[in-house]
Amino acid sequence: MAQSYISIEGISRRFPAPEGGKATVFEDLWFSMNQGEFVCVIGHSGCGKTTVLNILAGLDEPTDGAVIIDGRGIEGPSLDRAVIFQSHGLLPWRSVMGNVAYAVSSKWRSWSRPKVEEHAARFIALVGLGGAETKRPAELSGGMRQRVGIARALSIEPKIMLMDEPFSALDALTRGTLQDEVRRICRDTGQTVFMITHDVDEAIYLADKIVLMTNGPDARIAEIVANPLPADRARNDVHKHPSYYPLRNHIIDFLVTRSKAFQSELDAPGKVWNRRAPPVVVPVSPGAIASPPPVAKAV
Ligand SMILES: Nc1ncnc2c1ncn2[C@@H]1O[C@H](COP(=O)(O)OP(=O)(O)O)[C@@H](O)[C@H]1O
Ligand SMILES: [Mg+2]
Repeated sequence: MAQSYISIEGISRRFPAPEGGKATVFEDLWFSMNQGEFVCVIGHSGCGKTTVLNILAGLDEPTDGAVIIDGRGIEGPSLDRAVIFQSHGLLPWRSVMGNVAYAVSSKWRSWSRPKVEEHAARFIALVGLGGAETKRPAELSGGMRQRVGIARALSIEPKIMLMDEPFSALDALTRGTLQDEVRRICRDTGQTVFMITHDVDEAIYLADKIVLMTNGPDARIAEIVANPLPADRARNDVHKHPSYYPLRNHIIDFLVTRSKAFQSELDAPGKVWNRRAPPVVVPVSPGAIASPPPVAKAV
């Protein structure tokens, strides 16, 4: 069997509880990703999404279990994995160029200044900020700051991008533009992405797979939803695809009802659910069921 690029193998995370004992955020979580895949995670606040991302980033460790990336265990943060948080985390006293160049020179320490700046400039241009190199974060809009964060993350040419609700603080218009850019860049570069979002439409537009997490404590990966929409999709057109509403309804139904009541689903007679291999679900329109594979279906 082909080895997965990222393999989350039975991880648990427990914290000391205020009243003594341990609070279990999640227990025995299994999930894997292939190289070049764009995965979005959806689940209610507090279910442990950021904790999983921090473990993948090497910023936190699982209480039990392991994460294997490209055949190796994680040992702390690495420049192979770039993280983008909701707040951009730029150095306020450095210019756009200074912020990106700082990351580039941390990765390639022997590079000359001109080489570092040439490389950084390429990624600044890629996110549409050519011409703003000398500006400082305080002189930029929220969307532009987040773009610098994206340029900085991409500039180190990471094997994996980890994003924690990266667009949630932005207005709808800016969010849409950045979604387009991130999707284009990630497809062009074959980037492997693990992204947390609470925006269902963002997940539908961006993700190849959508991981549905139940509510905590003791959160689980209930299902993996495989996106049935064609890979060549446009943000303004996805809602016209026949499988868009089945897909959207499936995710919303999970968030509204099933994320809370998942245990009762498991208790139902005859229910088979293996936490090592959560079921992969492909919500498609009734007409599409007869014509597999749904992913290859023309719009
Ligand atoms: N360092 C910590 N100490 C104690 N509890 C924590 C810590 N970090 C996270 N938690 C708890 O773990 C749970 C999951 O948190 P988090 O991963 O941030 O959830 P999400 O990102 O899904 O909203 C929350 O109940 C939170 O209070
Ligand atoms: Mg979070």
